[in-house]
Amino acid sequence: MKSNEVRVARFDGYERVMHWMAALSFLYAALTGLAIWSPVLYWMAALSGGGFVIRGTHPWSGVLFTAVIGWMFARWAKTMGLDADDRVWLTRMDKYATHQHDALPESGKFNAGQKMLFWSQVVTALLLMVSGVVLWFPEWMPRSLRLVAIAMHPLAAIGSIAGIIVHIYMGTMSVPRSMRAMLLGWVTPNWARLHHPKWYREWRGSTNLR
Ligand code: HEM
Repeated sequence: MKSNEVRVARFDGYERVMHWMAALSFLYAALTGLAIWSPVLYWMAALSGGGFVIRGTHPWSGVLFTAVIGWMFARWAKTMGLDADDRVWLTRMDKYATHQHDALPESGKFNAGQKMLFWSQVVTALLLMVSGVVLWFPEWMPRSLRLVAIAMHPLAAIGSIAGIIVHIYMGTMSVPRSMRAMLLGWVTPNWARLHHPKWYREWRGSTNLR
């Protein structure tokens, strides 16, 4: 069998449903949140249900997003721990940005950049949820907490949105064929060997391919 006819399973059906639920709830929460936040961005309300509707739907989309991030955490946290190679990788990120794969330590199933995205999304989702609850029920909260939440919610949102903009760029344009992994669940052996060599070797060890 030619190596390009072989499929390397990357994400199972649960992971793909989980990921796209995160993406949709995130996009909706971001769109509605930005529309509520600034009059300059209020036009986004027209794309997400209208000004009246989004005041009610925004917090619920945030609850859904947080719940899906909790699911992601349960599923991927163990795989996302940084090892010694990952720490070196992070000091050489410029080589990654310029596609000099040979100058980087080998990555496992996820590279160190992907792991950092995961952890940054876990942290910002937590901050967004906690500050969001304070803003949702202000009459029950002390003034000091409300002031902290007013600053924390948009700051965490900006951090999260910035991370996802980079992530979308990586997943669609910078690393060709990644979308196939998240849409269909598999990649070719060549893709796995180029982007995640340690993970590729583990996979090869578990098959009888040469
Ligand atoms: C909205 C558009 C999005 C697109 C086009 C997209 C695309 C992708 C793709 C192609 C992968 C597979 C990468 C690989 O196989 O190495 C992936 C993985 C992943 N996505 Fe997304 N994604 C989106 C939104 C999100 C959101 C909102 C989150 C929320 C936290 C997220 C979190 C992740 C994580 C943690 C992974 C695994 C690690 C990584 O590849 O960074 N994604 N995404």
